[in-house]
Amino acid sequence: MRPGFFEHIPGGEKITLKGGRLDVPLNPIIPFIEGDGIGWDVWQAARPVLDESVQLAYSAARQLCWMELPAGDKALKQYDTLLPSETIDAFSEHLVGIKGPLTTPVGKGFRSLNVALRRALDLYVCVRPVRWIPGVPCPVNNPQNVDMVVFRENTEDIYAGIEFECGSESNMQFQTWLREHYPEEFAKIRFPASSGIGIKPISRQGSERLVRAAIRYAQKNNRGGITLIHKGNIMKYTEGAFTEWGYALAEREFGDRVYTYRQWLESKKRGGLEVANQHRSEAIQAGKIWINDSITDAAFERTLTRPDEFDILATMNLNGDLFSDALSAQVGGLGIAPGANLNDESQVAIFEATHGTAPLIAGQNKANPCSLILSGQMMLHHLGWHAAAELIQESIQKTIDSKTVTFDFLCQMPEARLVSTVEFGEAVIKHMRAVAQ
Ligand code: NAI
Repeated sequence: MRPGFFEHIPGGEKITLKGGRLDVPLNPIIPFIEGDGIGWDVWQAARPVLDESVQLAYSAARQLCWMELPAGDKALKQYDTLLPSETIDAFSEHLVGIKGPLTTPVGKGFRSLNVALRRALDLYVCVRPVRWIPGVPCPVNNPQNVDMVVFRENTEDIYAGIEFECGSESNMQFQTWLREHYPEEFAKIRFPASSGIGIKPISRQGSERLVRAAIRYAQKNNRGGITLIHKGNIMKYTEGAFTEWGYALAEREFGDRVYTYRQWLESKKRGGLEVANQHRSEAIQAGKIWINDSITDAAFERTLTRPDEFDILATMNLNGDLFSDALSAQVGGLGIAPGANLNDESQVAIFEATHGTAPLIAGQNKANPCSLILSGQMMLHHLGWHAAAELIQESIQKTIDSKTVTFDFLCQMPEARLVSTVEFGEAVIKHMRAVAQ
């Protein structure tokens, strides 16, 4: 074991699995990566908020026993590697952790540390809830209608990183092979000599496990609808297949607990529109989850113009990446959007701020820490420590109500009081103490 990191607050115990469920001790060891860039800034604000919420909710009976893991610039300086294998092992062993943003190294080495971490731990689901906190400045007229959860597949798609650089040996070999074996496909490459090539793998297993996780989440959290987002009209055997596999999985594994658009279509074919609509209303009234689909571009338009029609969005890697940022803009931007990467089977979960390292404002104590605080709040819910999580929710709301904001919100709330990253965290704690009294 490399020295320097990996020491946790004394008295901590490991979270384990019992009967497939998390068994959380009163003093769980929680591994964390501080992150690069503004990672340091937002962690200084977020950690005290998380600690205080637990202290206030459970007195001295519970404690988060933090254990720092090296990654990114810090790991490079100390261990000459951006992502030590021990960091990956520690997340796997302790099951639940949290991280700040990591710089994507330019040039050789990792394509992205985040992608590498997700791949190494097979964290195939990225969950990003998008909900407006009243008072947060945002660009849409009715942000109260935005209450969605993005379920993004994390391990496949064009994001898997299979690419052949323009002009490279591998690119030429690939094109030669394609020309010989699939001349009609090769003819679709408009400018072969000057093309980079990317490959987009989408599997049945990958699609099914993502949709399964989304349905389980909907059941657990009383969510009534899931929309499968895809561009299957064009990419039939990848995005189209994702949708077909998703529907088939829902009907096969969840039977009468879901009602799908495919079933509605079948019912319409047999009995007409009125009958089909009647079946759907009955299903929804009976508490079944309504599963439909939408073409990506139409979904971008409708999530903006009719957000109340969407609940959970289940989609592939690239679509999910684009949707999470676009939707977070509707409720105030990256500074306030939380997330988690997880594996429903191994139960390894890493909660993380959605934003990147924001190098232009790093180290200036001015970044908005809400994204990391709210990711920590999601983590507390995940541990079953709901009282602490609810305290955080309420006190962030009170902090916003008191018009105490970091610089990113100030330009849209000129009457507000500007505070630093750490002062924002302190304001949240002050409100938390008042709420807990
Ligand atoms: P970014 O999220 O770092 O910044 C985008 C914009 O949002 C910038 O204007 C930035 O100042 C602002 N911003 C971000 N977080 C903020 C906060 N908490 N408070 C106030 N303003 C905030 O995205 P960018 O510039 O594309 O990427 C910078 C680096 O971060 C890259 O190396 C990228 O690969 C990495 N990155 C890492 C992620 C992760 O670790 N999960 C996610 C996204 C990017």
